[in-house]
Amino acid sequence: MSDKTQSIHGAWSSRFAFILAATGSAVGLGNIWKFPYITGQNGGGAFVMVYLFCVAAIGVPIMIAEIMLGRRGRQNPINTMQSLAVEAGADPRWQYMGWLGMVGGFLILGYYSVIAGWSMAYIVKSFTGQFFSSDAGDIKALFDDLMASPIQQIFWHTVFMLATMQVVMRGVQGGLEKSVRFLMPALFFLLLILVAYAMSSGGYEQGIEFLFNPDFSKIDADAVLTAMGHAFFTLSLGMGAIMVYGSYLPGHVSIAKTTFYIAGADTIVALLAGIAIFPLVFANHLEAAAGPGLIFQTLPLAFGHMGGGWLFGLLFFVLLFFAALTSSISIIEPAVAWLVENKDLQRREACLWAGGACWALGVAVVFSFNIWSEHKWFDKNLFELLDYLTANLMLPLGGLAIAVFAGWKMKPAHAEQELELPAQGFQAWQFLIRYVAPASVFLVFLHVLGVL
Ligand code: PHE
Ligand code: NA
Repeated sequence: MSDKTQSIHGAWSSRFAFILAATGSAVGLGNIWKFPYITGQNGGGAFVMVYLFCVAAIGVPIMIAEIMLGRRGRQNPINTMQSLAVEAGADPRWQYMGWLGMVGGFLILGYYSVIAGWSMAYIVKSFTGQFFSSDAGDIKALFDDLMASPIQQIFWHTVFMLATMQVVMRGVQGGLEKSVRFLMPALFFLLLILVAYAMSSGGYEQGIEFLFNPDFSKIDADAVLTAMGHAFFTLSLGMGAIMVYGSYLPGHVSIAKTTFYIAGADTIVALLAGIAIFPLVFANHLEAAAGPGLIFQTLPLAFGHMGGGWLFGLLFFVLLFFAALTSSISIIEPAVAWLVENKDLQRREACLWAGGACWALGVAVVFSFNIWSEHKWFDKNLFELLDYLTANLMLPLGGLAIAVFAGWKMKPAHAEQELELPAQGFQAWQFLIRYVAPASVFLVFLHVLGVL
């Protein structure tokens, strides 16, 4: 509750530390792996426009709300929602929003860790010079080999889950904060190098055209849902990750301002990744709609061509691994905080339980790329199903709940007190969180259900 000035897990050392950690949560595989491949699958420019609109009109106000709820509640998302509901005189069942988020985090990390494992496998491939072939077919074969090998994937998935658990065990300042300081700027710098290479690749104009020239006939209701879901996913919204980070935020830090930095950095990294990748796709006559393997089938080509490419490749995949790690720790943190606060576990034990569960799910996800690839539900294998369920349904629903709670249930005076915005700023946020964000999510859902 509001009388608590600190969470029992500690607090960020400064506003800057919070920005780093939340940016670490936001910037991850979602930007560099997922954004390019779903943009490729959904026809490019128009999809990108819808995504940008969703980030600005839905993502930013909801991020402000989610951080605010976390800071005011100062507990894990379940307890935070419960105590804030009591404070607001609302139904305590708002805590189920926290539950939805915790289950969502488990389902997300189950596949996130597997993909992060791919990037670790590529660190080794780069180091051992396997990208030296500049032939697109050879590079694709490299990826197909990895997909066909449960052993390799399980190995890297296990290493990644252990790394995640190791960092989370160390707690707020020791683990979460330290790992972000240098990694974000380094990743940004390496992306710039890749963009520079892409400019000289021969496919640059076509790539830019694909990304930024909207052709709205290429998107349907499902593409709009994917774009909206991705806005939630990429900003780490709707499942309590940002809420729990907000609970470690010192008071009197401007939540709105920090949100702009976080959302801005996240968007820039995603766009840079797109600008680096699509020119390569067109210069090498690859398929934009190649799917989850897209960055693994394109970027190695660039590394294979550049002087010192093995080193850049190595650095890039190392940084991608760290970007994934600073996200994965935030995906698991709500569950760990809940186990510590409500089940009286040591942080260490909590990490083992939560991490172990995600690990087991991840093994099944690995199989969905090979031995179980024919097992489908609603025409989706396990990986695709988890991705759809979480990004397209659970996160937007969680975000909708956050918007309704912060906009309609919480006393406006309390929100004002937390946000400390000038009157006009507060009114703008209130308008977005009360009307624009919930209505947009709702309309997209209706559209997908064919009602609208
Ligand atoms: N935002 C992260 C990314 O883009 C993924 C994530 C989703 C993190 C949900 C936390 C919660 O990679
Ligand atoms: Na992101």
